[in-house]
Amino acid sequence: MAYETLIVETHGAVGLVRLNRPQALNALNSTVLAELTQAYAALHADDAIGAIVLTGSEKAFAAGADIKEMQSLDFIDAYRRDLFSGWDEIAKARKPVIAAVSGFALGGGCELAMMCDFIIASETAKFGQPEITLGVIPGMGGSQRLTRAVGKAKAMDLVLTGRMMDAAEAERAGLVARVVPADKLLDEALAAAAKIASLSRPSVLMAKEAVNRAQEATLEEGLRFERRLFHSLFATEDQKEGMAAFVEKRKPAFKNR
Ligand code: HXC
Repeated sequence: MAYETLIVETHGAVGLVRLNRPQALNALNSTVLAELTQAYAALHADDAIGAIVLTGSEKAFAAGADIKEMQSLDFIDAYRRDLFSGWDEIAKARKPVIAAVSGFALGGGCELAMMCDFIIASETAKFGQPEITLGVIPGMGGSQRLTRAVGKAKAMDLVLTGRMMDAAEAERAGLVARVVPADKLLDEALAAAAKIASLSRPSVLMAKEAVNRAQEATLEEGLRFERRLFHSLFATEDQKEGMAAFVEKRKPAFKNR
C-alpha cells in the first residue's frame, strides 16, 4: 500500500511505520491521521504482525500538529469537527506500539509518542509541549498523558513555559524507557518489538491492557483486573507450553492460543 505521508514496512513479525513529511518536519496534518489510521488497521488485521514500531526521521519524530492547517480555524470549526479526536483511535491500538524518537517530538509529536506503549529515544531527541507559545494548549492529550508520565511539577514546567527537554532529562523524568545512540535507535526499537512479537500474543495483549488499566483505575480495581486476566491465561495452550518449556529447559513454541 502506497501512502503519501507514511512509509510502512514489515520486518518479520514487526510492522514499521515511518512518518514521512520531511518538508514539514513530519507535522501531523489530516492526511497523516487518515493514513496512520489506515496503516494501523492493516497491521492489526494481519495475524503475522505481533508489534509495531512508529518512527520519524533523524531530525524529527514530529514537530507537532500542522500549524498551517489549523491556523485559520475558528471555535465552531474546531468544535464541530471535534478537532484531534481522531487521534484517540491511534492511542487505542491493541497491538503493542513502540515509539522510536529521534530529533523533535513537539506538541502533537510528543503527544503521539505518548500514545505509544513506550518510547525509545535517541540521544538527539527533544520533547516539549510548546502550544502555549502559539496561544493555545495541548490538544491531543499532552496535559493528561504528560502529567501521568512525569508528574505535575515537570508537566507544569513544560506546558506553561513551552521549553524542550532533552533525552536524558526525559529518561530521568520517566517519559522515556531507554535512551540509545542515534545510529542504534531503529535497531534497538525493532529488536524490542521483535522480542514482544515472539511471545504469546494473548499474554502480550493482556499485559498491555493490565498496565494501561493502572492509568485509569484505583489500585484495588486495577489489582482485581490484573488477577482476573492472569487467571484467564491459564486457559491458554501457551501457558501450558511456556511453563512446560521452562521445566524441560527448552525454548517455548507458542501458538498464540
Ligand atoms: C506546520 C511546520 C511545523 C508544524 C515545522 N514546520 N513545524 N509546519 N506545523 N508544527 C515546517 C516549517 O514551517 C518549515 O516549513 C519546515 O517545517 C522546517 O521547519 P523550520 O522551522 O525551518 O526548522 P528549524 O529551524 O530546524 O526549527 C525546528 C523547530 C520549528 C524548532 C521544530 O520548526 C518549530 O518550532 N516548529 C513548531 C513546533 C511547535 O510549535 N509545535 C506545536 C504545534 S501545535 P517551510 O515551508 O517554512 O520551510 C500542536 C498541538 C496543537 O502540536 C494542539 C492545540 C490545538
